[in-house]
Amino acid sequence: MISRRKVLQGVAAVGGLAAVPMPTAIAQSPASIRTLTARMGEVRLLEPGEPMTPVWGYDGLVPGPEIRVKQGGAVAVDLLNKLPQPTTIHWHGIRNDNAMDGVAGLTQPAVKPGETFAYRFTPPDAGTYWYHPHNRTWEQMARGLYGALVVEEPTPPAADQDLVLVFDDWRLGRDGKIDEASFGAMHDIAHAGRLGNILTLNGQFEKDLEVQAGQRLRLRLINSANARVMGIVFDGHAPIVIALDGQPLEVPFAPDRNRVVLAPAQRADIILDCSGDPGQAGDILVETGRERLRMGKLRYHPTKRQRSKVLADIPVLPPNPMPTTLEVDSAKITKVDLVMSGGAMSGFDSAIYQGKPYGIRELVRAHNKAWAFNGIVDMTKEPLKAIERGATVHVRMVNQTAWPHAMHFHGHHVKEIAHSRRKPQPYWRDTVLMQRGEEVTVAFKADNPGKWMLHCHMLEHQAGGMSTWYKVS
Ligand code: C2O
Ligand code: CU
Repeated sequence: MISRRKVLQGVAAVGGLAAVPMPTAIAQSPASIRTLTARMGEVRLLEPGEPMTPVWGYDGLVPGPEIRVKQGGAVAVDLLNKLPQPTTIHWHGIRNDNAMDGVAGLTQPAVKPGETFAYRFTPPDAGTYWYHPHNRTWEQMARGLYGALVVEEPTPPAADQDLVLVFDDWRLGRDGKIDEASFGAMHDIAHAGRLGNILTLNGQFEKDLEVQAGQRLRLRLINSANARVMGIVFDGHAPIVIALDGQPLEVPFAPDRNRVVLAPAQRADIILDCSGDPGQAGDILVETGRERLRMGKLRYHPTKRQRSKVLADIPVLPPNPMPTTLEVDSAKITKVDLVMSGGAMSGFDSAIYQGKPYGIRELVRAHNKAWAFNGIVDMTKEPLKAIERGATVHVRMVNQTAWPHAMHFHGHHVKEIAHSRRKPQPYWRDTVLMQRGEEVTVAFKADNPGKWMLHCHMLEHQAGGMSTWYKVS
């Protein structure tokens, strides 16, 4: 259950501005190599007066340092592993060089304790991305290892503030410590994943944003939770979504009920105009299940105004160098079917694990596995599909389970072209939220050679069998 203190009904406003300084943005040029040390730290996730929380963080921070580069600029990060476990960094959503994708066991060996790995790449696309480990991801992310990677447009649209807001979900004990006993718990694996009891915004229990009447904010929203889908609301304000998963929208839109829904790993860039008056405040809320939790406030300066009326135009971000054509001639299309099965309440009779058939009971009991793609549990030696470079690929994903899933493609963004319940949404995404029983076909141009993972980003589902890979030659 979520901490009741975070439930809105009748709870008095908690005052006090956050005392923890935000990690600083790092301006990078190819000449500046930045070391990120994955290490233990202690952070204040809970309110003042409550215990601190021991975490694993990049440079000991949660979120890790925000990395910002201009489009066309290079990212040069040396990962130094001071954790008691091997780790890597995956640059989520970057259409990256395969060797820099950071997937332990597929694109690189995991970096052992005490060792370093040099990540060097130039992100092709502007937008909001993030980084996290890709080894025991379900544990390492739940311990606090993640940070934002922002690639700025050469000429960003006018905004008075450009801020990253990372929403996370933690499972903490009364002592403020991360509940370690439940790491890898079968109940989480076979159900909705690891859902926590405390939500944080930028690593804080309540995080207020200082704004002025009339200001235009560009907010970069990131859901870094292991498994929780979040609806993000700025009470009394009307967001306009201008980018999803880093990629600009040709036609920005006002989301239904002013609520920006993010599955785990998804991002949205929004424009938020501060239409209130000086001295006002508006709650930043997360809607999840039947609860509405306050994460902080937009706190208006008591007297100052940025401008007398909010800006009227809606900016359209410049396009990224995405493939412009997706093949329509069906003879030239590489088709892939991905049938998702398993989990509580529907399961499967049997599935192949490490080359051998097993019944679901045995998989659950002896191997901590509960999910399959096309009847196969976990990664295999051979790819799900070997794809010729340049091909247009249609992946038909069928969710035969009783649970939602956040299907994440490495190396490429994909676009919905068919959906069993609604009109397909014409947005480039790297993570696609699917509800139970849904069938979604996505298309992409396989223009990035290498070995790329395709997995559920509800990390306990990934650990429990929902991961595969495809190869672009
Ligand atoms: Cu965000 Cu395979 O990862
Ligand atoms: Cu899933």
